[in-house]
Amino acid sequence: MKPLIVGNWKMNPLNQKAANQLFNSLKRGLKNVRKIEVVICPPFPYLSIINNQLSFIKLGAQNCFWQQKGAFTGEISPQMLKDLRVSYVILGHSERRQIMKETDEMVNKKIKEVLKLNLWPIVCVGETARERKKGETFQVLKKEIKEGFKGIAKSQMSKVVIAYEPIWAIGTGNPCSADDALTAILFIRKVISQIFGITIAKKIKILYGGSVNSKNARDYLGEDGIDGLLVGGASLNPKEFLKIVRIARG
Ligand code: PGA
Repeated sequence: MKPLIVGNWKMNPLNQKAANQLFNSLKRGLKNVRKIEVVICPPFPYLSIINNQLSFIKLGAQNCFWQQKGAFTGEISPQMLKDLRVSYVILGHSERRQIMKETDEMVNKKIKEVLKLNLWPIVCVGETARERKKGETFQVLKKEIKEGFKGIAKSQMSKVVIAYEPIWAIGTGNPCSADDALTAILFIRKVISQIFGITIAKKIKILYGGSVNSKNARDYLGEDGIDGLLVGGASLNPKEFLKIVRIARG
């Protein structure tokens, strides 16, 4: 499996010029990178201005709506993203679940709509610090997967990426240990296998995300079973992000 490194810029940088500069420095550094897939997820307004001609860098969005068009003020449809040559869409990120109150049901509707258009959803799951303390990690993961992928056909599941992102590790500088990340990811694979069968479970890419940087990337990527990384803060620093990509390339 080719490792997958996803850069989630979140609501950064502040203007088009800075977005172009950031993307161009990544592009320069990624020239000739093979055996790896890199996805860059800028904010919506920058998707159309970023000049991406490299086949191994794919564009991703950070969210979308569950309808293709109509009276949904402020929303963006998967069809619009596809038109902008977007290939991946992050769905169910914890910041959307917590701040925008997105539910598993909403995430499920979005996954279905994204899959209809042959885009790849990157579905984020993960527990809060409180849930972890109470020993509910597996319970939370199971629920998010069961509800999130409800009604999705087996054949569609091979175009899905899952990211294990423990909420307490996101943007905190307090990453989950590689061992714990692997345990959670193996559990996620087991749940997928129970619902969709072993073949799908083996095929699906499952990433780790949460305070990843160039110092700890190797620990995760060294684990058989962790197929890549979802990188937030460190993806805004080209040097740091390129180091992570090089580590993934091996
Ligand atoms: P972080 O964010 O790398 O800044 O912790 C990860 C994410 O939210 O996807």
